[in-house]
Amino acid sequence: MKDIFQANLLAGKAAFITGGGSGINQCIAERYAAAGAAVAIVGRDLAKAERAAAHIVALGGQAIGLSADVRDYDQVRAAMAQTHKRFGRLDIVVAGAAGNFVANAKDMSAKGFRTVVDIDLVGSFNTAHAAYDYLSKPGGLVVAISAVQGSMPMRTQSHVCAAKAGVDMLMRSLAIEWGSVGIRCVGIAPGPVGDTEGMRRLAPDGERSWERLLRHIPAGRAGQREEIAALALFLASGAADYINGVVLPIDGGQTAVGSYEFGAMLQDSLQSDQAAGGAA
Ligand code: COA
Repeated sequence: MKDIFQANLLAGKAAFITGGGSGINQCIAERYAAAGAAVAIVGRDLAKAERAAAHIVALGGQAIGLSADVRDYDQVRAAMAQTHKRFGRLDIVVAGAAGNFVANAKDMSAKGFRTVVDIDLVGSFNTAHAAYDYLSKPGGLVVAISAVQGSMPMRTQSHVCAAKAGVDMLMRSLAIEWGSVGIRCVGIAPGPVGDTEGMRRLAPDGERSWERLLRHIPAGRAGQREEIAALALFLASGAADYINGVVLPIDGGQTAVGSYEFGAMLQDSLQSDQAAGGAA
């Protein structure tokens, strides 16, 4: 992918990224660090967060790995305080931690539903709320990593659809409350992105599900983590100063088509998984 961004675009800034130990969020952390930001990578698994941070440091960037479960406000707040103390400031917060599994609503326990809502929605609130005191004002940015499920109902995804719709409204609501102090709140809603834990969970039978899904994406391919990270970098740049209170789809046109085929694919992969006796 051609790099159109100015060098050191985020020099002197600091970012806090939940779920930054892998996938899209790790890619965002690396992109921010390559643009000159100091980044805190936060996750439930400290070793994973520290590995991701060490990788950035090995490439010459500035990064720390911290442990926090986004469902636990006090843990998130403590990690935020540590980040601010270490870097002396906080400019960008990415609420990226998420959970997903494939299950029909009638077969899901109440705890299963709540677990995803707790990670995705409550976790995003915890992260944004804990950041408020520390974020630069003006100049602060909260980015929530939503998903196309936030705007498209989908079979086997009632928990994620409900949680991500909440995340979208949370960003739009916080934007209204925090705009006056100079904090922007924006959502990014990716469609299927290749080589991520999320898609491994959604398409456990790999190639076959992917081929079926991609036939219904106008771009004819999955997204790349680097493309999501480029959008996150753009949003953190001065060029996006007037973008606030919106959720931007980045899905190759999937939202325009609708979710029917994606949901049908998930339903089939769930059934074949159950027939094989495995757990989703
Ligand atoms: N089908 C139905 N229910 C499921 C399930 C599945 N495939 N996987 C988990 N659950 C339910 C569990 O049964 C449990 O409810 P119960 O005790 O009533 O049976 C509940 O969800 C909580 O599961 P648990 O594994 O204890 O929670 P956790 O906090 O350790 O894990 C998850 C959270 C469930 C979201 C787990 O999938 C996870 O850790 N995901 C993180 C990684 C991820 O999802 N990445 C993709 C990002 S898009």
